[in-house]
Amino acid sequence: MTDVVLTLPSVEPEEVLRTGWDEDSLVLGIETSCDETSAAVIRGGRHILSNVIASQNDLHGEYGGIVPEIAARAHVEALTPAIAEALVGADATLWDLDAVGATLGPGLAGSLVIGVAEGKALAAALGIPFAGVNHLEAHLYSALLADPEARWPGVALIISGGHTLLVHARADGDYDLLGGTLDDAAGEAFDKVARFLGLDYPGGPEIDRLSLLGDPEAIRFPRAMLHVPGFDVSYSGLKTAVVNHVRRVEAAGDEIVVEDVAASFQRAVVDVQVAKTMAAAEHIGAPRVFLCGGVAANSGLREGLGAACAERAIDFHVPPPELCTDNAAMVGACATAMLRRGLRTPLDAAPDPNLPLGSRL
Ligand code: KG4
Ligand code: ZN
Repeated sequence: MTDVVLTLPSVEPEEVLRTGWDEDSLVLGIETSCDETSAAVIRGGRHILSNVIASQNDLHGEYGGIVPEIAARAHVEALTPAIAEALVGADATLWDLDAVGATLGPGLAGSLVIGVAEGKALAAALGIPFAGVNHLEAHLYSALLADPEARWPGVALIISGGHTLLVHARADGDYDLLGGTLDDAAGEAFDKVARFLGLDYPGGPEIDRLSLLGDPEAIRFPRAMLHVPGFDVSYSGLKTAVVNHVRRVEAAGDEIVVEDVAASFQRAVVDVQVAKTMAAAEHIGAPRVFLCGGVAANSGLREGLGAACAERAIDFHVPPPELCTDNAAMVGACATAMLRRGLRTPLDAAPDPNLPLGSRL
């Protein structure tokens, strides 16, 4: 990131509480729920003017997973420069902003509080509305950001390091939970299997990369829940199956073909997620399917779900990989949709590490 300094303008009373919304409304999005510090400026809810992402992968890599204390400290250092760079990238000043949105939850408590505190402070100082955004809802909006034609309703698979959810997105802010993981999130399974295989953190992209070099039919890993009615999934058994396979092969004195293990593991996840997502889409009679969250960057899942939708003439929307993983553009888009509906988050609202999305049917 470039070295830019954020200077706060003094407050002009007549500027306070500008609440009109039009196609040119500018919203600053802030994302600090996990291990990416991100700030973005969004125009009219759909146009990304800037989207600065400071990843902490290097900091957590040596521990093989996210260390919450390190994540929180890194957010403190990176957030203000990220906001300043996002404003410069959007050719905007703080005075041009119509609102600020920051991720309120779910996520790591110590990380969330950094973005929420800075977002509220800016909104208060500038006299503009603040929107506390649900991180999972923001992932849904990444699918809308990527495609001007995309709109609700539809079935959405939100698949990330912390969550794996199938959602019926009926309208802005109106979501029914259809199913989810009973244990590990899919991204968590990718990361744990990668770590076991000695791959770099985060493991999802590494498994994806190796999968392209391996045979997905080489090892028949279990597809838990595939034939169980409903839309829930489970990944802890799959993870154990990978561990058992590797130990068995090693005990026999044979060599592990990491590419085949990666490809076969990924195929098992894709098979289950495609089957459950299509079953949900058919159950709802959904005209379109959305794929979002960090694991939506996975090449096998994008291809598999895209092909299954094409077979059934269901529209398929998936953001480009850089909008799948955590970013503030999706937070700004979601905040804009909330503010357009008249929602404002009071400045005394606290971050909620367990903030739920919608209700279970
Ligand atoms: O949405 P995200 O950035 O953070 C959460 O909200 O959890 O998702 C991060 C997760 C990690 O588990 C990471 O390994 C996974 O997304 N991921 C991938 C790929 N890119 C990121 N998993 C599989 N294939 C990928 N290409
Ligand atoms: Zn996320």
